[in-house]
Amino acid sequence: MILAPLRGVTIRCFRETFAEQIREAGFTEAITPFISANPGFDPLKDRELRGAPEQIKVTPQFIGKDPASLRACLLRIKEAGYDTADLNCGCPYPMVRNKGRGSGLLRTPDVLEKMIAVGCETMGEGKFSVKTRLGFDRNDELLALMPMLNSYPLRFLTVHARNARQMYGGECDWRAYEQVAKVAKMPVVPNGDIPFPPQKIGEVMIGRSFIRYIGMRDDAKDLLAKYIGASLEELCGPSPVLGRLKELVAYWKDLPRWKRLWPIIKIARTLDELRLAY
Ligand SMILES: Cc1cc2nc3c(=O)[nH]c(=O)nc-3n(C[C@H](O)[C@H](O)[C@H](O)COP(=O)(O)O)c2cc1C
Repeated sequence: MILAPLRGVTIRCFRETFAEQIREAGFTEAITPFISANPGFDPLKDRELRGAPEQIKVTPQFIGKDPASLRACLLRIKEAGYDTADLNCGCPYPMVRNKGRGSGLLRTPDVLEKMIAVGCETMGEGKFSVKTRLGFDRNDELLALMPMLNSYPLRFLTVHARNARQMYGGECDWRAYEQVAKVAKMPVVPNGDIPFPPQKIGEVMIGRSFIRYIGMRDDAKDLLAKYIGASLEELCGPSPVLGRLKELVAYWKDLPRWKRLWPIIKIARTLDELRLAY
């Protein structure tokens, strides 16, 4: 099982604080939330990749549309010992996709191909993966790109079974997913609304259902306190810590134990107010 990248949630501090729960759950790898592959940017300065190796295998994910910058980032992470990397070809946010990054790459297959070529060449055969969606605004767009994708030695292709216009709502289209999986030459990893623990046998990528599961655990409150402590050590001042905590607890707001607490946590202005709430 692969832990899905959720910007602001499955960040390094989360992966370190919840390392035991992540391992016990059966995750063997985590993809980092996206790191920008911008000209001149040193990815090792990103909080995701700074410091000693983590307990779990970590694959850095990059977002961008400039092959030269991607190559520079990949060479840099290889120096630091990372042997795999992933390309974000699925981010649906208009500010990202309208600039041709994330899911916007699905609209510019020539750029996408250059990014993949650079990724496979720099990381080596079977070391570079792509995370994408079924399409930009239709569910058959990825299928049309499969002949191109099949011509590269990708490690795997993760498919979030929605299109970018859907953002994170609406139904997953597993029929369209199967069509892609059928023609794919590389391993295909399904993603999107897969329950934790998963019923499917084989490799899957899971995000939100695992986050919700943490909120259901009997020790959720202790774990939250640990996350606050670790975040206070990492961030400057209580304000960003408060923001980070709310982002996590927002996934728990419909759970019986947190339903009553969420409205109080949501409006907490200080960490003491937040602690008093739970
Ligand atoms: C808050 C949030 C942040 C996300 N950040 C990323 C990201 O940085 N990179 C990425 O490839 N996908 C990102 N995703 C998409 C997830 O990795 C995943 O594809 C999606 O949540 C569906 O899987 P799930 O239903 O198991 O959560 C994000 C999703 C959410 C909700």
